[in-house]
Amino acid sequence: MQEHDPRQGGPAGPSRRDFLRGSGVAAATAVLTGQAATAEEARAAQESAPQVLSGTLEITLKVNGQDRKVAVEPRTTLLDALRNRLDVTGPKRVCDRASCGACTAIVDGVSVYSCTTLAITCQGKPIETLESFDVGDHGVPHAFHQNDAQMCGYCTPGFVTACKAFLDKNPNPTLEEVRKGLDGNICRCGTYVGVLQAALDAAKALKGA
Ligand code: FES
Ligand code: FES
Repeated sequence: MQEHDPRQGGPAGPSRRDFLRGSGVAAATAVLTGQAATAEEARAAQESAPQVLSGTLEITLKVNGQDRKVAVEPRTTLLDALRNRLDVTGPKRVCDRASCGACTAIVDGVSVYSCTTLAITCQGKPIETLESFDVGDHGVPHAFHQNDAQMCGYCTPGFVTACKAFLDKNPNPTLEEVRKGLDGNICRCGTYVGVLQAALDAAKALKGA
């Protein structure tokens, strides 16, 4: 059989070299097309991804009626901003994982665990801590004091704050409602009897305020 000369072309059709050359071009084109598609996909994903904030930014928090400027990172919790930057130490850090309620603050009328609330999400909302509470005879702290509703005291600021937020919304609670309303807070010393009675007494006292 006559061997085909790859340099001549001719009726024998494309040579093995032609074939390989063609295949190489096709493969390279496919790779380049694939790379372009990948780059395009990456660019589209980058554009649609949520913007990631980093570094420090200055925000204003309305704490106990005062506008307070504070430099925070996007990851800074409300508890850290209050305690470590603004010296508002009423909310306590105990579990630091939304389990115990010692860090309770009131944000926009709702009691929250400040240890797991980002400070930047609280901009423009009123933030209350127990530093702003009435400590007279008609206030919640007085009712806790009168009912001996604390032992070591770690949980007490959180309970007082949760109680204030609860009574602001439920001024005439039953014992069962108080029990449910404060069930996000834990007392390791077991002062629940005093805490529940303090809440009921505070409800009565607040009416006379
Ligand atoms: S310290 Fe925030 S819930 Fe315990
Ligand atoms: S008084 Fe000690 S944890 Fe409540």
